Amino acid sequence: MSTTLGNLSTETRAFAPPPELTAQANVTAAAYDEAAPDAPAFWARQAERLTWVRKWDQVLDWSNPPFAKWFVGGELNIAYNCVDRHVEAGRGEKVAIHWEGEPGDSRTITYADLLRSVSQAANTLTELGVTAGDRVAVYLPMIPEAVVAMLACARIGAPHSVVFGGYSVEALATRIQDAGAKVVITADGGYRRGSPSALKPTVDDAVARCPSVERVLVVRRTGEDVAWGEKDLWWHETVEQASDQHEPQAFDSEHPLFILYTSGTTGRPKGILHTTGGYLTQVSYTHWSVFDLKVDTDVHWCAADIGWITGHSHLVYGPLSNGATQVMYEGTPDTPHHGRFWEIVDKYRVSILYTAPTLIRTMMKWGDDVPAGYDLSSLRILGSVGEPINPEAWMWYRKHIGHDNAPVVDTWWQTETGGMMISPLPGVTATKPGSAMTPLPGITADVVDDAAESVPNGGGFLVLRGPWPAMLRTIWGDDKRFIDTYWSRFGAGAGAGDEWIYFTGDGAKRDEDGALWLLGRVDDIMVVSGHNISTTEVESALVSHPVVAEAAVVGAADPITGQAIAAFVIARSNVDTTGRAGEELTIDLRNHVAKTLGPIAKPRVVFVAELPKTRSGKIMRRLLKDVAENRTLGDVSTLLDSTVMDLIKAGYGTPAGSDVSAIRRSTAP
Ligand code: WT7
Repeated sequence: MSTTLGNLSTETRAFAPPPELTAQANVTAAAYDEAAPDAPAFWARQAERLTWVRKWDQVLDWSNPPFAKWFVGGELNIAYNCVDRHVEAGRGEKVAIHWEGEPGDSRTITYADLLRSVSQAANTLTELGVTAGDRVAVYLPMIPEAVVAMLACARIGAPHSVVFGGYSVEALATRIQDAGAKVVITADGGYRRGSPSALKPTVDDAVARCPSVERVLVVRRTGEDVAWGEKDLWWHETVEQASDQHEPQAFDSEHPLFILYTSGTTGRPKGILHTTGGYLTQVSYTHWSVFDLKVDTDVHWCAADIGWITGHSHLVYGPLSNGATQVMYEGTPDTPHHGRFWEIVDKYRVSILYTAPTLIRTMMKWGDDVPAGYDLSSLRILGSVGEPINPEAWMWYRKHIGHDNAPVVDTWWQTETGGMMISPLPGVTATKPGSAMTPLPGITADVVDDAAESVPNGGGFLVLRGPWPAMLRTIWGDDKRFIDTYWSRFGAGAGAGDEWIYFTGDGAKRDEDGALWLLGRVDDIMVVSGHNISTTEVESALVSHPVVAEAAVVGAADPITGQAIAAFVIARSNVDTTGRAGEELTIDLRNHVAKTLGPIAKPRVVFVAELPKTRSGKIMRRLLKDVAENRTLGDVSTLLDSTVMDLIKAGYGTPAGSDVSAIRRSTAP
């Protein structure tokens, strides 16, 4: 990758941490120095945060790379660490979860409540014949039973496989089959966009294709009628009637904790396997350090679904291992109105908010006056994850949500890394809008060229050097695919040198201060007249124009330049993109990009009402490329809303400035 990649955009704004935050921060700059000489020793100190039944004999076994073992010989119970020990320490009455249902119902769950429910669920699963090592699939809406189910599985050593509640029969069945799940935990349905949305029929169809499933445990949430089969059991007739006494048993540090499927851009889903001691150590430490968690006063809210790694690590295992109080919300941000999120922040006095750039850009589109109608003064730390955050979206988040004072922590990590890897520390780091800044203490990330040589300044491939505690251990049932996918691009796995280098699949650039800027998946990087141009940079340039809320950019085959840049742009509310006004705006945007990045990056611009996104909110550029290259669309099965593509296709053929009102519609993120 040529260094042109890194030379297009520059960002000069920087924000020092608020002095009052620095004065009381959980972590100081010393953490980096402590970790640098000996990362395993650093992680061994962080592992002391947990309660171990048996201490480890060896911190790290990396004798058979890329298969790592952390805290070898150590034994612990994850559910005990997330629940029992807080109750034993006299914090049973502390709120663990403020749950908010979409229709406006709510529940308050203390740590003592959680202990009773998790014990009951563990007893029920055991009665159903689930033993350590058996897999349990969880397909639930965002209700407290989802957390209870996961912790109950962890308590009895049965790896859970949580499948996002929006996935189809096909996706659910494939995942149940691949994991060979014995039990499925689901619900009649959940609430989405103001009405009940059924889950049970999807499970019925999937289970009919999955002979491994012996029992289906069903939570009653909506009360709608459901078909009932011989494998089905109601949660309230089993779990809620079971004994609430359960003795947790310790498991080996490398005992499998969960499988989480990630589909990536292509190919069949990969079952990412995470284990016990190392995973909990890293998520507990990063949740505490990156959010500067003050356990007695903070109210944490991770808005991600439990079906994603963000939900696993920052709604379940991170906050609960730390004994935090948090908010869990069932529904969508636009139900019943665009201010729902801010209403929840004010209601529970949320102090730490963790969400995704897609949500921030949607909020930008809805307008500044929405958050302006709320107090939001309780917020002190704002987190972002999932995609590169455009500098303008970062600034908007800080200004309109963080009252121009709350630090924004842009956290880079993956399902595969299990825990956060690259992020500012809010009391230490002077942040730059749009940059994830530097690797966390104990983590080594690098930007390298094709030959795995470090690029001190400029763009290249983002890699991770050296094992880290929460790293994936393998792809479930497919060690070869694990090696091929992550370890065969650079270093020992590619037959060069002794070092095993993990390839993230992301492009990044390192600036003159050593800060890292994520540039998107390397598969998306465009080559225009021999220059590598990152989709992220062109998108950020577009978003920095005042009329733009969101943009997706792709390279479309072009006989002259190799690839030509096509930009699909969503305007902010109330911007007229029709007729003559639209025509002028497209010219304006082309010139704006040329001015910001250089004439080579000038895109063709088309206004759209929606962008194709995965269910976790990532833009699916592959499909836009199909449109721009006038091809039949590829696999659309992971798309959130499949009608979006028809509208975009219809709009793409129309010349700039023509009336696109027909393709405007008002679906929410
Ligand atoms: C991919 C991993 C980790 C939780 C959610 C996503 C992209 C993630 C950032 C960020 C730029 C980011 C990367 C990464 N990504 N966080 N802060 N800045 N890009 O987990 O679904 O496994 O996706 O998301 O491309 O590789 P995931």
